[in-house]
Amino acid sequence: MDEQKANYPKSAEAYTEAVNFLPGGVNSPVRAFGGVGIGPLFIERAAGSKIYDIDGNEYVDYVGSWGPMILGHAHPKVLEAIQAAVKKGTSFGAPTLAETRLAEKIIAAFDSIEKVRLVSSGTEAVMTAVRLARGFTKKDLVIKMAGCYHGHSDSLLVAAGSGLADTTLRSSASLRSTRRGTPSSAGVPDPIARLTIVIPYNDIDAAKKAFQMHKGKIAAVLIEPVAANMGVVPPIADYLQTLRNLCGNDNALLIFDEVITGFRLAAGGAQELFGLTADITCLGKIIGGGLPAAAVGGRADIMDTLAPAGPVYQAGTLSGNPIATAAANATLDILTNQDCYQKLESSAALLEAGLANAAKDANIPVTINRVGSIMSCFFTDKPVRNFADVQSTNIKQFKRFFAEMLTEGIYFAPSAYEAMFVSLAHSKQDIEKTIEAAKNTFHKLKINT
Ligand SMILES: Cc1ncc(COP(=O)(O)O)c(C=O)c1O
Repeated sequence: MDEQKANYPKSAEAYTEAVNFLPGGVNSPVRAFGGVGIGPLFIERAAGSKIYDIDGNEYVDYVGSWGPMILGHAHPKVLEAIQAAVKKGTSFGAPTLAETRLAEKIIAAFDSIEKVRLVSSGTEAVMTAVRLARGFTKKDLVIKMAGCYHGHSDSLLVAAGSGLADTTLRSSASLRSTRRGTPSSAGVPDPIARLTIVIPYNDIDAAKKAFQMHKGKIAAVLIEPVAANMGVVPPIADYLQTLRNLCGNDNALLIFDEVITGFRLAAGGAQELFGLTADITCLGKIIGGGLPAAAVGGRADIMDTLAPAGPVYQAGTLSGNPIATAAANATLDILTNQDCYQKLESSAALLEAGLANAAKDANIPVTINRVGSIMSCFFTDKPVRNFADVQSTNIKQFKRFFAEMLTEGIYFAPSAYEAMFVSLAHSKQDIEKTIEAAKNTFHKLKINT
């Protein structure tokens, strides 16, 4: 924490105060910078590609609130929509026309979605999807992949990535084998965790074996189609299609958790990118435009098992909240213009090439995994295909990289297990500045190794 005191004195003071009032000083674990061993930055404001801390420092922001800010911060059209909605009242607990418009836009973007339920967080979306799958199939077991994160509902806090990756996953045997889950968090009862079967990501044989071992009992396979909570790990060829086939053959549902990838890799998410369809899709982050909105969508016959149409219960006081829905509609209106994804691709490709060259010039081995506008720079010379691979990278070097980049005015995610998010607000100058900073940083890393 000395580093925080020296470089970010006001943040250091704010953190000391916050820990007296908030567990760990934060309201969501990764914000505490535990993965990099510096105290957290306290943020004052953000605009476009930049974020500003309370010490007055400006950073090029590649966290983007962990994914939602694909248009950049405080986009004028989104602010305008929010301001117009606020004037009409902040919550009604009754249906609005804007919710139907939002559902319509999601359905237009995803071939696999015929009906949508709006909720307030990604956690709720995935929890609902799993309950729906169990209710629809009348089966209990769910397969998940080690290192994928699906929010913090009980049955999914098993071999989970993201904030849990920095702590609980280190010694988990479930990273390499097919097994009943053990909880990643205290407070999750074993019998609940055991309903989740954990297999390694990108392991086709493990998926086949899990279906053989639990034939007729699997309600769903739940997956991030591009894993982005163990850093970014793309699916190998045929992996997602194999899961699609395995589910089809055993009357199990395929749930794509597109909370990160939905409206990010393409308007239709990973499904559009890879030409596949899921039975149930979970969306969040981007679809809230920076406000709390998320969604579950899927085939009409599945979705109609949700209450009040069907017997699977789900509800929410603030679901479809008018302000969040206004931000969501404004965001999706901009994103459904295809140029957005071309621009994201070229900005992210520029950043990837710049980082790779900077590392090569300094003779620092890195593997960069990138899919569209999400990417990770792993400190290793080997390919990174699953969580065990991520764990074998040089995490200590990542921590130095993160801290140095921060002093250069570049705000990457404070953990080797999180993605970098490129937004439409990142300019060529922002990316060039980032590459210059990376050149200096890799050089310093080289000197210190
Ligand atoms: C893939 C994925 N699913 C679900 C969630 C949970 O979303 P939320 O934090 O909105 O509850 C996250 C959050 O990072 C996520 O990355």
